[in-house]
Amino acid sequence: MTLRPDFIPSLVSPNISADTLGTQSPIKLGILASGSGSNFEAVAQAIKDGQLSAHIQVLIYNNPDAYAAVRAAKWGVPAVLLNHRDYKSREELDRQIVQTLREYDVELVVMAGWMRLVTSVFIDAFPNKIINIHPSLLPSFKGSHAVEEALAEGVKIAGCTVHLVCLEMDSGPIVMQAAVPVLPDDTPETLHARIQVQEHRILPLAIARIASAGF
Ligand code: GRF
Repeated sequence: MTLRPDFIPSLVSPNISADTLGTQSPIKLGILASGSGSNFEAVAQAIKDGQLSAHIQVLIYNNPDAYAAVRAAKWGVPAVLLNHRDYKSREELDRQIVQTLREYDVELVVMAGWMRLVTSVFIDAFPNKIINIHPSLLPSFKGSHAVEEALAEGVKIAGCTVHLVCLEMDSGPIVMQAAVPVLPDDTPETLHARIQVQEHRILPLAIARIASAGF
């Protein structure tokens, strides 16, 4: 039997009431993405639906063929390509990212599938104002093969995490998590699809939480 990913029970913690999300003045977001950009689109949709009081000032992407840029065009969001191959060091790329975020007057940075390690140049420019979404229940399964590794370990509950970004990869204070079951016939693709349904839920919630309460 195949169940649609969004029919399967999940647990989100901390719970925050959906009707408090749209009340504060819009927080100005800069979103960083390397790939598909489905999380970018989930944030844009939550804003459009009045579930999140925010404005996406800019999308920064590092791969010229990232589908996230196509989504940004569809949503009328400025998209800036900063190709890491054009920079001599991580610090040099990060300086350009910081400059771009400042040009677009960004208050909160959202890494949504951003596949680059960050340096202190970036972290120090936006203290406690950079978040990342990761497809595991951190601190388990850091890195870019989180879903495959969770399956290989035989975990029965998987999930996703929004956390503040620090220098160490996929570390930093946890803002919000969602858990989903792992089903016996899961592949990395089916499990990732189930996790992504929850990513698209908790990323707007986590942004709203930070916007209203700080961290
Ligand atoms: C997500 O699974 C996220 O957790 C991870 O990269 C993926 C990005 O997906 N960091 P998308 O580009 O937002 O569709």
